[in-house]
Amino acid sequence: MRRGAGAPESGEPPSTSIRSIGERAGQEVALRGWLYQSRSSGKVAFLLVRDGTGIIQCVVSKAEVAEEVFEAARQATQESSVVVTGLVRRDDRAPGGYELSVTDFRTYQTAEEYPISPKEHGVDFLMSHRHLWLRSRRPHAVLSIRSTVVQALRMFFEREGFVLVDAPIFTPSAPEGTTTLFETEYFGGKAYLTQSGQLYMEAAAMAFGKVYCFGPTFRAEKHKTRRHLNEFWMLEPEMAWAGLEDVIDLSERMVVDAIRAVLEKRRRELETLERDPARLEAVRAPFPRLSYDEAIRVLNERGCSIEWGADIGGDEETVLAEGSEQPLFVHRFPRELKAFYMAPDPEDARLALGVDLLAPEGYGEIVGGGVRAESLDYLDEQIRKHGLPPEPLEWYRDLRRYGSVPHAGFGLGLERLIAWLTGIDHVRETIPFPRTMNRIYP
Ligand code: 4AD
Ligand code: MG
Repeated sequence: MRRGAGAPESGEPPSTSIRSIGERAGQEVALRGWLYQSRSSGKVAFLLVRDGTGIIQCVVSKAEVAEEVFEAARQATQESSVVVTGLVRRDDRAPGGYELSVTDFRTYQTAEEYPISPKEHGVDFLMSHRHLWLRSRRPHAVLSIRSTVVQALRMFFEREGFVLVDAPIFTPSAPEGTTTLFETEYFGGKAYLTQSGQLYMEAAAMAFGKVYCFGPTFRAEKHKTRRHLNEFWMLEPEMAWAGLEDVIDLSERMVVDAIRAVLEKRRRELETLERDPARLEAVRAPFPRLSYDEAIRVLNERGCSIEWGADIGGDEETVLAEGSEQPLFVHRFPRELKAFYMAPDPEDARLALGVDLLAPEGYGEIVGGGVRAESLDYLDEQIRKHGLPPEPLEWYRDLRRYGSVPHAGFGLGLERLIAWLTGIDHVRETIPFPRTMNRIYP
């Protein structure tokens, strides 16, 4: 059944969104949305209608509407697009606090049998229908929180005096090592999808002082863990005349501010996800700090046998985070474990001035960063040691030749932060259309 074009019909009451329907209590309104769920008896139909901003129960009573309106409401299929007119009534038992007493109902397009039913589906099935699954409560809540966090992060860096400088996606270089590059043909030559905007942010920091970029980054990692995506979003601030303490301080305040925004604006979504807000309310700066040396000692005390010099992987991160509600900074790693650009620790030449922030509850590393090597000689030595081709880094060397200064920054993995805040197990659910080793569809 298809009537009208979805545009307001003459005599139709004002349109509203479900989120702001409370402002129209006692009035007649029109809602444009989709039928989420319905049940009906011979006399009354209960429709859950969603419009993107919320879900509301609409009650169609046979005695109070025209025969064809009741039939249209009763027969509408799940996810049909609909225009519902009715009276807004306050009802404390209703999920959003309001209900609609329907006076008119029309179906704009009748949906075919919808593949996602209220019964349980496996994640793989749901991911293959991600384009439709987005309409369901859980993805809707997670992605709404993601939107709020991104907004809060941008505002945070704006307030802190950082300038947004966008980094390119096609690059000639491999800041995070040559083993995880996505290569692509570039007009007869080759280019890589960016692993990190950092090197460009270093150039920008020498021009603007404090900068950040925020965009998709790509790693051809053959990981199948709950923390890895092949395309993920990274926010990367970089500061001239700054050191390790500045990185720690800034990332700490950033995380606290993101949590504040979620607690302020997305309580309802946390509830939908059954995420206990007390977990987030408990997070307080300053976060505890542990040097790599201490971390190795703690890990061995807790039964992980790990030698000095070995990388702290996902499992070890979980062990380190155990028993604490707070995120944890781990700093000053063996130089060999870290990227070519990391500055050596002036107090211990074996170490690099890097820092990672580990989320509690086993969510792992959400931030990685540190101080960048200042001297051209040291940098050249590292480029050689890491076996990186020097030509694509020629421009980067210029930054050490023309007014080199101490500078530092970090990268925040957005999906890992969202996974932790929402309590979602796997990062693939925290990005609208995840790209993993075995998924590029839809
Ligand atoms: O620790 P990473 O590799 O650091 C860098 O790329 C630096 N160049 C950043 C900088 O200093 N400007 O990555 C930073 C963060 C990690 O802490 C993690 O949260 C996230 O990016 N990340 C991933 N998230 C999802 N899937 C992956 N495969 C990720 N790899 C890194
Ligand atoms: Mg890292």
